[in-house]
Amino acid sequence: MAARIVLKKQPARVVARGLRVWLRPPEPEDEAEFTALRRASRAFLAPSGIAASPSRAFRLFLQQGPGTGRERWLVCSKADGEILGAVSLQAIRGEPFHSAVIGYWIGAVHARQGYMGEALSLAVRRAFRGLGVNRLEADVLPENTASKRLLARAGFVREGTAREFVRIDGGFRDHERWALLARDFARGVRPTRAQRPQSRK
Ligand SMILES: CC(C)(COP(=O)(O)OP(=O)(O)OC[C@H]1O[C@@H](n2cnc3c(N)ncnc32)[C@H](O)[C@@H]1OP(=O)(O)O)[C@@H](O)C(=O)NCCC(=O)NCCS
Repeated sequence: MAARIVLKKQPARVVARGLRVWLRPPEPEDEAEFTALRRASRAFLAPSGIAASPSRAFRLFLQQGPGTGRERWLVCSKADGEILGAVSLQAIRGEPFHSAVIGYWIGAVHARQGYMGEALSLAVRRAFRGLGVNRLEADVLPENTASKRLLARAGFVREGTAREFVRIDGGFRDHERWALLARDFARGVRPTRAQRPQSRK
């Protein structure tokens, strides 16, 4: 008898589909799964400055959405609907800027499997093609090699350093400013080897 595949969640509100992940907005009933993943990933996420309590993080995540100047999606496994992480677009600005700031995290247990690489390219496409963004920015701690490699692979280019940009653990921290332009995305421009950060062994 053929195996029956049971999806944990119906993909009714999926906004973008990749090979292994899809993006969808959060629902109130995602709270338990979301907070459990954040709780289990606390030590993994803390060095990047992601430290809000899991419940507060979910509340804020749920509140953001169309009409708030933000967008956010859960990154879910296409195989079974499991929540793997999240991507958000913040500070979405219209005329004359047409820009947004992208943020993302993956659950510790799902890291280094290429999931966020796929999710980021889906979110980037949606920002440029669906939301009319012209300039997509990301702010990264200089030591966050994983995030910088992810951005470089997606075509983002390092533009410089924003000094004392964010307060983390009581101290203001410099952040690298990375950005991708709609015209470079449309041309499929990818960074040169020299622009890509070296992998941490
Ligand atoms: C950054 C992050 C989202 C990457 O997610 P991921 O699903 O592991 O990413 P991928 O598996 O698609 O890998 C992306 C690239 O990062 C590299 N990478 C992933 N983890 C790494 C690590 N710990 N050290 C060095 N490189 C790493 C991968 O090798 C890959 O590089 P390549 O394409 O050149 O081979 C994840 O590490 C994370 O959630 N970190 C904590 C939160 C965070 O930093 N958010 C961003 C704040 S700016």
